[in-house]
Amino acid sequence: LTISPFIASLPKVELHVHIEGTLRPSLRWNLAQRNNIPLRFKSQEYHTYEQLVASYNVTYNHRPELGGRRDVPTFLEAYFAGCEVLLQEDDFYDLGMDYLSRCQQMNVCYAEPFFDIQAHTRRGVPAENVLNGYLRAQRDGAAKYGVRSNWIFCFIRDEPVEDGEAAYLEALPWGKSGHGLFHAVGLASNAYERPPSLFKKAFERARADGHHITMHCDFGQKDTHEHIRQAIFEVQTERIDHGLDALDRDELIAGLVERGIGLTLCPHAYHRRTATEVLFPKLRQLLDRGVKFCINSDDPVYMHDVWIDGNMEKAYHYGGLTKQEMVQLARNAVDMSWADEALKREIY
Ligand code: HPA
Ligand code: ZN
Repeated sequence: LTISPFIASLPKVELHVHIEGTLRPSLRWNLAQRNNIPLRFKSQEYHTYEQLVASYNVTYNHRPELGGRRDVPTFLEAYFAGCEVLLQEDDFYDLGMDYLSRCQQMNVCYAEPFFDIQAHTRRGVPAENVLNGYLRAQRDGAAKYGVRSNWIFCFIRDEPVEDGEAAYLEALPWGKSGHGLFHAVGLASNAYERPPSLFKKAFERARADGHHITMHCDFGQKDTHEHIRQAIFEVQTERIDHGLDALDRDELIAGLVERGIGLTLCPHAYHRRTATEVLFPKLRQLLDRGVKFCINSDDPVYMHDVWIDGNMEKAYHYGGLTKQEMVQLARNAVDMSWADEALKREIY
């Protein structure tokens, strides 16, 4: 699907992108050389750039009856394998700047990228390398590319809650009342049997520190409806990342609408494993039912290199949305963002 001039030129705001999911093979290759570390997944090493690029063909599961193969990484395995080349402050800086330069090319004027600090600290990388690298990218990306950003600290939900709480406290000086790198807290990684309510206290602490709250309720996951219910009614989230399964339950839709909770959707992520005629009518249903949502990329390099513009093109093309509706979705992202009011007015 090629990007139409209309979608390319539409001013955009991106609210659901994992910065570590934007690490392009070219930068990853260069960082591996710079840090003198092997490129690998488990026991397989990637000796050539072509082998590295081929490793981005991930599987969705390892169950042989579904075609899964043990020697092919799942999406999340590939994502965390990619993280291994990120060690020094400059590595995180280069990654942040690479994404923000890509934003400029796509007419993304403001972004709220997620970062997974525990993906790095658990490998022995000092938290300050991660935080200072992204902080410099936040500043230089605004100055050099004109792309402003407020970042989102994510708890890794399949790690112990206490580890997430400790990582949050270590990062707090870079939060809203400190250096101002991040202004919100999210919940990411494998949701299997890791419902949002486990992190209720951790989110309450973050809220008391003045941080906004969002959390992933992945599309088509086990217990997805219960996760959405907890996110809305128990943890009192302000946004939901994905959350498309809410359409199956009237009480969830009512909760979203009454509380003004918007969904950050990533159509290509679902389209990888959902038929066009099943998936795209859901966008129209959300519009009809008054649920606010916006269009985003999630992890573009691990999802066939489809970025926010490609995701918007899919919504436009397969969803049968009008130009006016696409403009509305772009404006929804401004409304749903946590940019300050002056910046919101400027980009609206
Ligand atoms: N889903 C859940 N957690 C994640 C993702 C994702 O797509 N990418 C990085 N962390
Ligand atoms: Zn995501």
